[in-house]
Amino acid sequence: MDMKKIRVLCVFGTRPEAIKMAPVIRELRAHADEIETRVVVTAQHREMLDQVLDTFNLRPDYDLAVMRPGQDLFDVTDAVLHGLKEVLGRERPDLVLVQGDTTTTFTAALAAFYSRIPVGHVEAGLRTYNRYAPFPEETNRVLTTHLSDLHFAPTERARDALLKEGIAAERIFVTGNPVIDALFQAAEQPFQLEPELARAFQENGRVILLTTHRRENLGKPLQDVYLALREVLLAHPDVGVVFPVHKNPAVRREVAGVLTGVQRVYLTEPLDYLPFINVMKRAYLVLTDSGGIQEEAPALGKPVLVLRQVTERPEAVAFGTARLVGTDRYRVTEEVSRLLDDEGAYLKMAGAVNPYGDGRAAQRIVQAILSYFGRAAAPAEFRPAAEAKYFSR
Ligand code: UD1
Ligand code: UDP
Repeated sequence: MDMKKIRVLCVFGTRPEAIKMAPVIRELRAHADEIETRVVVTAQHREMLDQVLDTFNLRPDYDLAVMRPGQDLFDVTDAVLHGLKEVLGRERPDLVLVQGDTTTTFTAALAAFYSRIPVGHVEAGLRTYNRYAPFPEETNRVLTTHLSDLHFAPTERARDALLKEGIAAERIFVTGNPVIDALFQAAEQPFQLEPELARAFQENGRVILLTTHRRENLGKPLQDVYLALREVLLAHPDVGVVFPVHKNPAVRREVAGVLTGVQRVYLTEPLDYLPFINVMKRAYLVLTDSGGIQEEAPALGKPVLVLRQVTERPEAVAFGTARLVGTDRYRVTEEVSRLLDDEGAYLKMAGAVNPYGDGRAAQRIVQAILSYFGRAAAPAEFRPAAEAKYFSR
């Protein structure tokens, strides 16, 4: 019997969504006999999205081109919702797949719901339980859960959070996070490190990798973090800082005042994914308020100090490779200095652990989709390796 193909429409719009969706799209396309895959980018990000599309050789079927300089949440929501209305009406997919917690994620789930199309949510169930931190991501993610029909939880903790909110157990699949699939795929590919970056590693014994962009950190929190780094650099002449600066003009304003022209601070444009991962591999430690980097750094055995008060990714904190340090100037100075000065403290945090995945999340997600449509058995769950589970030094 000739079965009709399942039509899956993947929607994403920012850099991290694209990185995490890329392995899933690759796996969907490997099942072309059963699944027809369509890709829609909202382009909530432009340059930072296109970098990832190039890296993973992704060619979208639709590009909503919603990015405007200095856009606010109303602008993005409005443009994505109306843009998708048309695409969903034309394509009538069997499933819309979204990833994460951005405004694209939430709005695409809403658009699919309004069109009565089932939604699959990749990276479901992460929670801080503080609706303003991260803002608006925590609430975007909760809302996306309640608009979704299939939930791909990266960890058991995420699954438990979904169960507590009344999501049916048979609709939740613990798959691991495809961020680790992407990381493993990246490790095999060639790339070029710009001369400026190569220089950062030649000129300094140790390099700190820094990224910042959270909305709730704009203003004084970021100023404090940058001032803390200046102090750290003064006291540590063998240390440099590589800082690929997010495109958000609000972030760039903060950086310009405090870090421009400071010796041993290497400010760059957002890096392509492969060189970025390589810089992380070579860095001594990572300082960030990013979500995705909190997942990648532990897998690479890099201590990561998280510039937030709360995190929806507590697994790596529990395993000892990540620490929540907030943005207080003295606290950040102290925590970074401690890792630089105390080798014991450093080594305690530097064990590689993979609580977030084993490189097979995309396989499980696609098998779960097939099982939802009655074409396969449910996939076996992702379980972190024993050493990751019991890592606590
Ligand atoms: C967005 C997501 C955030 C995610 C982050 C990843 C929301 C509300 N925020 O935050 O969850 O962690 O992406 O990086 O969904 N810009 C460019 N070029 C680009 C990208 C951004 O110029 O390629 C500038 C534009 O001026 C834009 C601004 O950055 O207006 C902010 O972009 P936006 O997507 O609204 O928020 P992010 O801070 O990037
Ligand atoms: N990343 C990148 N180039 C950079 C900085 C980050 O490719 O210059 C990648 C990083 O490896 C991770 C993702 O972008 O996979 C994280 O994106 P971001 O921090 O913007 O968003 P978040 O994860 O906080 O939503």
